Amino acid sequence: MMQTPSATRDLLHAPVLLKETIHALNIDQGGLYIDATYGRGGHAQAILTRLGETGCLIAMDRDAEAIEHAQANLGDDPRCHVIRAELRDLDVAFAKLSLNRNADGVLADLGVSSPQLDDARRGFSFRLDGPLDMRMDSSSDLDAATWLNRVEENELARVLREYGEERFARRIARAVVEQRQSNPITRTKQLADLVSAAVPTREKNKHPATRTFLAVRMRINAELDQLNAFLPKAVKLLVEGGRLVVISFHSLEDRLVKRFMREQARGNDYPAEVPISVSQLRPLLKVVGKAVRPSAQELERNLRARSAVLRVAERTGYCHA
Ligand SMILES: C[S@@+](CC[C@H](N)C(=O)[O-])C[C@H]1O[C@@H](n2cnc3c(N)ncnc32)[C@H](O)[C@@H]1O
Repeated sequence: MMQTPSATRDLLHAPVLLKETIHALNIDQGGLYIDATYGRGGHAQAILTRLGETGCLIAMDRDAEAIEHAQANLGDDPRCHVIRAELRDLDVAFAKLSLNRNADGVLADLGVSSPQLDDARRGFSFRLDGPLDMRMDSSSDLDAATWLNRVEENELARVLREYGEERFARRIARAVVEQRQSNPITRTKQLADLVSAAVPTREKNKHPATRTFLAVRMRINAELDQLNAFLPKAVKLLVEGGRLVVISFHSLEDRLVKRFMREQARGNDYPAEVPISVSQLRPLLKVVGKAVRPSAQELERNLRARSAVLRVAERTGYCHA
């Protein structure tokens, strides 16, 4: 039975693609598994129930409230280690545990959790008024308000266009810069209203500020950089046959994961005309199956799963120098 620490009471997270993730991890009851994005532990708990006495689960997150939850629920289990760390520091965090074994599976379920989104104080939601914060790690230096009140107009437009795929990036950037001259933007509602007024058309069933909030969040939390640094580190930690499982919610993230897995499955780069064998290519990964998306039944239960894409790869026995 999961305990709920006071700070996070009532804010639940429905784990996405749970059955599919557990299947993808191909869990060995004596294996070592890393859940690099613990959240509220939906996936972690499902992994743990499949582990025997010699199994091991490492639960990681950059968010203090997620870690508080993990401590409360896993802290007393000798098979579990709870670490507050960022994805890009996976190698350092893992090394500190001195476990003398590698991982049989690494899971990253990217993006934000429902408790982060649904807590107005965290400033992730355009539906709830709160401070414009958006930091997954509340101890990090840069919050959304600070950034938004000093970023150059061109850079803001670029972020909105690239991360948010926002058609009206330029207009929104101009509106932000104009408004902040007289009135700094410090609240989520202020930003949401400003964006609503700046965009000339509406997308069906989508709040006009959806793309802006996504883009700013990705910038504040350096989400693509984190993922880029994490993927090769995860591969390095895997034993032969170990699985890397990633759930993305953004097309840029999914593209990055897909490309990474493909490149690692292709192996060393030789000119096309050079005749070579697989042992010379030494691919580090083998892609397992195709991208998996939530079923209609899951979407009926949990609309937040709608953009989820799960990809899986397995570590080969080859090594690189
Ligand atoms: C979608 S939620 C994970 C939900 C979890 N699988 C569950 O079932 O409860 C994503 C979590 O990953 C964490 N996270 C996202 N990016 C991170 C990063 N770069 N480093 C560490 N944690 C990160 C967030 O703080 C959040 O708690």
